[in-house]
Amino acid sequence: MAQKKRTKSKRGERRGESVRVLISRDKLQRRINEIAMQIRQDFKDQPLHLVGVLKGAVFFLSDLARRIPGEVSFDFIAVSSYGKDTHSSGQVKLTKDLDFSIEGKTVVLVEDILDTGMTMQYLIRILQQRKPKHMRVAVLLDKPERRIAAVHADYVGFSIPNEFVIGYGLDYAERYRNLPDVGVLALAAPRKKRAGGR
Ligand code: IMP
Ligand code: MG
Repeated sequence: MAQKKRTKSKRGERRGESVRVLISRDKLQRRINEIAMQIRQDFKDQPLHLVGVLKGAVFFLSDLARRIPGEVSFDFIAVSSYGKDTHSSGQVKLTKDLDFSIEGKTVVLVEDILDTGMTMQYLIRILQQRKPKHMRVAVLLDKPERRIAAVHADYVGFSIPNEFVIGYGLDYAERYRNLPDVGVLALAAPRKKRAGGR
């Protein structure tokens, strides 16, 4: 039987989209291991409480948590920054709060990417008000060129150029989160409608 022509590729690209691997899964894992060791080195013998930002940070948090030796707990928070496109508007809203208090805890806020910094600035502000003993920020990716808010991450996986990335938790309109590598997403310019065309 003749196979139907498929437009979808192995990585799930739709027509007009293409993905180029930027950071391989092996490279991600090696760097996450280093960060885990660094965090434990900085807070010897202390229980650590990781706060992951849904949904982009889920894989980073789960890999990081499993590589930090000693006592580790975690929780999740969710924010929305309006808009599903490749650019956020800068307005941040809390959509899911933490399940547990962070007062007196050594907290590591775990985020997928620092872009303009607006999301992180908001999160740091609301979490600091809850009086953690220490608060540190770990981001897998950093796009320093795009920064608007003056926020600083204590642990950075990779600094990357100003390109839209997907995979390993990062999405484009909720797709591509499942890719094991981080890739750059290229979008073809929309085709102009021809007169009388479809
Ligand atoms: P910021 O508030 O501009 O720093 O944006 C942070 C959020 O925007 C991240 O948590 C991501 O969810 C999203 N974001 C920023 N850059 C990218 C990207 O290149 N790919 C996918 N999501 C991104
Ligand atoms: Mg995010």
